[in-house]
Amino acid sequence: MEEKETKKVIGLMSGTSCDSIDAGLCEVNPDMSVKLVHGINYSYPEHIRAKLFSAFRGEISIKELCQLNFAVGKCFANAANVLIEEFGKPDLISSHGQTVYHYPYDEKLDNISLKSTLQIGESSIIAKDTGCMVVSNFRESDIALGGQGAPLVCFADEKWFKNSLVQNIGGISNVTVVSDDCETFGFDTGCGNIMIDYCVQKFFGGKYDKDGKIAASGNICESWLDCLLQDEYYFLEPPKTTGREYFSNKYIENILKTAPSEPKDIITTLTALTAKTIAQAYERFVYPQVHADTVIIGGGGAYNKTMMKFLRNYLPKRIELKTHEDYGISNNFKEVMAFALLGYCTYYGIPNNVPSCTGADKRTVLGKITY
Ligand SMILES: Nc1ncnc2c1ncn2[C@@H]1O[C@H](COP(=O)(O)OP(=O)(O)O)[C@@H](O)[C@H]1O
Ligand SMILES: [Mg+2]
Repeated sequence: MEEKETKKVIGLMSGTSCDSIDAGLCEVNPDMSVKLVHGINYSYPEHIRAKLFSAFRGEISIKELCQLNFAVGKCFANAANVLIEEFGKPDLISSHGQTVYHYPYDEKLDNISLKSTLQIGESSIIAKDTGCMVVSNFRESDIALGGQGAPLVCFADEKWFKNSLVQNIGGISNVTVVSDDCETFGFDTGCGNIMIDYCVQKFFGGKYDKDGKIAASGNICESWLDCLLQDEYYFLEPPKTTGREYFSNKYIENILKTAPSEPKDIITTLTALTAKTIAQAYERFVYPQVHADTVIIGGGGAYNKTMMKFLRNYLPKRIELKTHEDYGISNNFKEVMAFALLGYCTYYGIPNNVPSCTGADKRTVLGKITY
């Protein structure tokens, strides 16, 4: 095998929140450490973002989906080119793409599995527009081996952290359990910011609850919270993953039928829901298996002060609550750094899924390379 060297990798990622294309120039080292040189949050043009949200609602045609794959590829290329103009070409680009559908269920048609996932952002457009090799489409190979194709960031968490619960709070929330006591495992704990963002937009007209200010101004409606906590997803045994297909606009509109009348109480309660489902997921699926003292939060939710306060209240007192920034890793660019590492491994043919997290039959090299 080729001798491994430090590589310059641009990681590109847009998560379920669809808040921005996060692009980060990273140095990825043979020991699997990653240094972020510079990161940017590149906004989708308004109408492209609106089309993506139509796609999430299942309201676009096949024609529009076809177009959107190439258009999103162009946006990803533009984001990479902002970094390339300043820092020059990287050795490779690693692009997660934009998930438009994730179907991790074992449903069958003619005895053929329908388990599937779709990330768009055509890699050929990124490769030709930047002149760089692109690694993309990481999730498919894991699904081909019976996994859920997610969560993938666990691979990086296992390399970067020791004896911690590494909790991302993006649109969806997911945890990686890294412990000396057992094999690394991880799963989606439930909603992160999706429902908060939706209700902030619906009732207050903003994109999200900046710093958790709206949530700080309201009260938790305990009866509504209890009712939301009964959702069956929270009781499912891992491995499990979820997305906008489940926590859809329809789902949110449905729960809003029994919501408190004050919009700010809705935001406060949904913020508490994310924190409480994380705490309960640990009680149900983590503490019985591993001893844990440290929780490390990342993703946009780490900036929501009210969410962090609720988490502090719901987690056992012995738990130390930290953010990635305490470890010198940006909350904002952690996933980009993780995908830079995944792309680096694909380049060198190093297996980069974690079957104990995804449920795949075995380890494999994820991703497709476009020259
Ligand atoms: N300063 C902030 N205060 C409160 N919430 C924030 C802040 N910054 C980001 N967020 C929340 O985090 C979300 C984006 O998180 P991110 O980790 O990018 O998720 P994803 O991977 O799903 O895109 C935003 O939609 C918003 O809800
Ligand atoms: Mg994001």
